[in-house]
Amino acid sequence: MTQTFRMDKPQPRLLDETRQGVIGTSMDRPDGPLKVSGQATYTADALPEGCVHGMLVRATVTRGHLRDIDRDSIADIPGLLAVVRDPRFLRNPAQGMAGEAPDQPGDRIDYHGQPVALVVAETFEAARDGALRLKLRFDSVAAEVDPDHATEVEPQDPTESGDWNAAWSGAAHQVDVVYTTPCHASAAMEPHAAVAEWQGDRLILRGALQMLRFNRKELADAVGIPPEQVQILAPYVGGGFGSKLGIGTEAVAAALAARELGRPVRVVMARQTVFDAVLRRTETRQHLQLAADAEGKLLALGHDDRVSNLPGEEFAEPVSSASQFLYGARATRFRQDMVRVHRVGAGSVRAPGEAVGVIAIEAAMDELADALGMCPVELRLRNLPDQHPVTGQPFSARALADCLREGAKSFGWSDRQAPGARQEGDWLIGMGMASAARPNMLVKSAARVRLSAEGAVVETDMTDIGTGTYAVLTQVAAEMLGLPPGQVTVKLGDTDLPGASGSGGSFGASSSGSAVFLAAKKIRDRLAAKLGCAPEDLSLQDGLARGANLEAPINDLLAGEVLVEEAEIKGGKTAESHFSAGFGAHFCEVAVHRWTGEVRVRRMHGTFAMGRVLNEKTARSQAVGGMIWGVGSALHEDMSHDPRTGHVVTRDLANYHIASHADIPRDMQAVFLEERDDFANPLQSKGVGELGISGAGGAVLNAIHNACGVRIRDIPATPDRVI
Ligand code: MOS
Repeated sequence: MTQTFRMDKPQPRLLDETRQGVIGTSMDRPDGPLKVSGQATYTADALPEGCVHGMLVRATVTRGHLRDIDRDSIADIPGLLAVVRDPRFLRNPAQGMAGEAPDQPGDRIDYHGQPVALVVAETFEAARDGALRLKLRFDSVAAEVDPDHATEVEPQDPTESGDWNAAWSGAAHQVDVVYTTPCHASAAMEPHAAVAEWQGDRLILRGALQMLRFNRKELADAVGIPPEQVQILAPYVGGGFGSKLGIGTEAVAAALAARELGRPVRVVMARQTVFDAVLRRTETRQHLQLAADAEGKLLALGHDDRVSNLPGEEFAEPVSSASQFLYGARATRFRQDMVRVHRVGAGSVRAPGEAVGVIAIEAAMDELADALGMCPVELRLRNLPDQHPVTGQPFSARALADCLREGAKSFGWSDRQAPGARQEGDWLIGMGMASAARPNMLVKSAARVRLSAEGAVVETDMTDIGTGTYAVLTQVAAEMLGLPPGQVTVKLGDTDLPGASGSGGSFGASSSGSAVFLAAKKIRDRLAAKLGCAPEDLSLQDGLARGANLEAPINDLLAGEVLVEEAEIKGGKTAESHFSAGFGAHFCEVAVHRWTGEVRVRRMHGTFAMGRVLNEKTARSQAVGGMIWGVGSALHEDMSHDPRTGHVVTRDLANYHIASHADIPRDMQAVFLEERDDFANPLQSKGVGELGISGAGGAVLNAIHNACGVRIRDIPATPDRVI
């Protein structure tokens, strides 16, 4: 069943031959009407009969142990059922693709706000009341919460090439700067939620999760049962951004409480708990060193960073990932320090690495362009490497130069003036730009396709976290089988269906779409055999199958039969022979208020090349969404911790500032250049989700400098820093 995608040779371009015109169009989401009319049931909406409610209780110390729980303190609450405490409650959620529950250090508390118990009651209100009033006693020990003061520092393996000292010291121009970024929260619209129900020894969990195939194993592992006894359902998920890659406390607590009580249990995190207990993006400290000759050729490129995580946690934000292949230099140096702090665990948040790393290198490149007196676009064009500078692989498809040139032209970059030169009343106007890059991935994914006289049904445990999976998989099947999209039904979000890649790392659409492509191709081959033509001569359109000299209605060929085929695409971290990544260029115009330091983004254009566009509309939403997040990370987002306890201070969407409608201009454009990536996957598509945020914040910062001459190196660029 497994199809190995040969990365080392270009694939047949079947999708260019099918000519249905469904792939790539702006087809509306089939799930859209259900969502806007409230008929799409999210995890917390579907309550099984007899379901009771659990509310998580959090630690009020930073580090230590839970000594005891005073159950009598809430004994008066009507409908109170239990206070559940179990060492298997997760200190830290599983990370993406873990496939097993993370080790739990027993009863230990490692960060302020860590869930330690679950109050279960007949009603949500009673459970919430109990969770707020429950008296807990803790033993507490001293804890380091500030990465600037942490003493536990673990240097990671560096990546270095060339003679650094020679390249650095001989350079005509040097930029040696430090950028910092704060912690970020995923802040998905749907809070983390789980509804657990046992049917005998079988656990059914409705969950807000991104990667069901992995989550099933993680949950089974945490609860101590075989994965075959776990079914996870997640037909609709209200955003993830990495925060729902692995199972979290809400799922484990719901499952354990439901088993203990013999009733279904629903656990929905309060918004504050989402901030307290869901993986954060680490804060970063980034040391950029760029040296160039008089013509702007990079001689030395260094990007060192410091990130943090809880003691014992493996995830380290790959801050310099894109810096390692965006530009080439004679000598390069990428080093990372991991510091251990008692803040909530750090994990993947939208474009881990690029989201913060590309802001910094692109801002530093702007500083270098300034030092050289060179156009920032030209500086980048001069430094595009011929191959991946670290691995030596050729690029599979890299249209970064086209993105830079096309983007500059459509934006009107040539109107850019010197810093401070353009004024409108009290506003200083500036333009900035930045490159975007994000490695492309392919993850093992299976799908089943059924074709009958009624149309096609696609089945896979893939998720749609708001990204458009239902639409894209409908399009792939419709294109391949010659059907109108209305005759394709896509079933997702159920671990009883063939296991998919899940949604994460921008690999979801390409990976799960490739599985649907391969399964549909098998059905095409069977139709060709029935018609009596060679598979490559078959075309399917308007209910007709055509061969070289033959044609027949598809329904006649089926003759009442249902054709069922399953296929799996084998994963692999992009090509072995080639390096596959998406690229782009951001251009931004801002106005900076002379007296208040307020920054308004006036327009922003992103030009991207990321292989075949599978759905113009959902791809655009992803790209523009990423750019908006870029604006938020440059200007607003800042997850603050109490310096004494590490408790998250900005723990709701009023205090954790994100870009709102009023912060985003109407002129927010994403343009896609025509591209096919022959080495990426059978669809020749690449990830788009996380490409949009990569570098976007850098373009905003660079525009601020062009407007008023101020370099903001501690992000976000709040008015107090700009003024
Ligand atoms: Mo990805 S970090 O799951 O958006």
